[in-house]
Amino acid sequence: MKYLKNYLLYIISVICLFIFLSVSIYMFKSRANVLSQRFYNKLNKFENIEDGNIKYPNFDVKEIDSEIEKIVNIYKKEKNVEVSYTTYVTEDILNTFFIIKDNGVTSYKNLNFDIKTREFVSNNQVFDFNSMGSLVLDKVKSKYSSNVYNIISADNFKNAYVSVSDNGVSIYFDPRLFNNLEYDVKVILSNGEEKISEEFYDKVIAFTFDDGPSKYTIDVMNTLISNGSKATFFELGNRMKYNQETVKSLYNGGMEVASHTYAHKNLNKLSEAEIDEEVNSTNIIFNEITGANIGLVRPPYGNANSKVKSRVLYPLILWDVDTEDWLYRDAEHTYNHILENAKDGDIILMHDIYPETLEAVKMVVPVLISRGYKITTVSELASIKGYNLEISTTYRYFK
Ligand code: NI
Repeated sequence: MKYLKNYLLYIISVICLFIFLSVSIYMFKSRANVLSQRFYNKLNKFENIEDGNIKYPNFDVKEIDSEIEKIVNIYKKEKNVEVSYTTYVTEDILNTFFIIKDNGVTSYKNLNFDIKTREFVSNNQVFDFNSMGSLVLDKVKSKYSSNVYNIISADNFKNAYVSVSDNGVSIYFDPRLFNNLEYDVKVILSNGEEKISEEFYDKVIAFTFDDGPSKYTIDVMNTLISNGSKATFFELGNRMKYNQETVKSLYNGGMEVASHTYAHKNLNKLSEAEIDEEVNSTNIIFNEITGANIGLVRPPYGNANSKVKSRVLYPLILWDVDTEDWLYRDAEHTYNHILENAKDGDIILMHDIYPETLEAVKMVVPVLISRGYKITTVSELASIKGYNLEISTTYRYFK
C-alpha cells in the first residue's frame, strides 16, 4: 500500500513538472514572439531624417542608428553629396540600402540587421553568393554586355550591394566598376515568377531587325525574351530558306517574323511581275517552314513608289528611328542613338546580322525598360496605339 502511494506521488509530481515546463516554455516562447513582433513593428515605424541632401532613417534603436550614423557622417561634411535610401523589414531581417551621389558619381552601401539574433550580418549571409553566384552571373550575362559581365565575374561580388523589397532581393553592382555607364547594373531575384510583361508601361516602341536570319538572330531573340520583350524580324526569303531552324525558333519564341522580300532588290526598279515574285516567294517559304502566313512587308531600302504599293498586298512597314547600325558597326553608337531618339510609338530599325547590334540590344533593352518602355513587335505596337493595318499602305510609326 505504501509503495503504491509513493508510486502515485511520483507519477503526479512528474506530470506536474511536465505541465509546469510546458506552460513556462509556452509562455517564454509567446513572450519572445510578442517581443520580436514588437521589435518588428518598431522597425517599421522609423523616422525619415533629412539634413540638406542627406536622407536616412532613424529606428530609435541605438545599435542600428549608430551604425547608420557612421555611414552618414562620412558624407555630412562634404559638399555636393546626396544620400537617399530605401529600407525594408522582413520577419528575419532589416535591410537599409543607401544610394550615394558624390559629385555626380554614384555608389551604394547597405546594412543588414538580423532581427532574431540582434546582430549585423554581411551581404553574403543575406544572399549566399557562394551557392547562388552563378545564377546572378547568368542574369548579368543575359541582360548586359559582355564587358559588364566580365567585370562583374572578375570582381567576384566584392562590390555587390543588396537591397531587399517586396519583389525579392536586388543586387546592385558598384557603378565605379564600369566606365561611364549611364544605367544601374542590377539583378533582381524575385520571390515569385518575374512578371516584367505585367508591369505598367507608359511608352511603347517596336524593335525591328532586317536582312537576317543570321547566326546572331537567336541571341538577339533570347536577349529580348529574357527581358520580357519582343520584336519584328523582317527576314529575307533567300536567307530563311537556309536558316529554317532559326525561323522556326523565332516563330515559336513569340517573335513576329515578317518579309523583307526574297533577295533585297530595289522594288521601285522591278516590273509588276518581278515585284509579285519577290513578295510571294517569301511568303511561300515562310509558310512551308511554319505553316503560318506573312503579315507585314518591309520593302528593301524603304523604297515603295505607288506601283510597288499597289502590287504589295500587305501593310508596308518603314521606320522613324534609323540606328545606322550597318554603317557604324559600333554597339555604343547604336545604344546611344536609340536612347537619344526613341520616343513613344516609334519603330526602330536595326539588323540582326551584326555582332555589334546584338551587343547594343543587350545593353539598351534593360535601360529602355527601366525608363518605362515596353519593347514589342510592329503589329502589337499598332494594335496598342489603335491602328488597323491596311494593305498597300506605308507606316513609319504609330502615334
Ligand atoms: Ni534591308
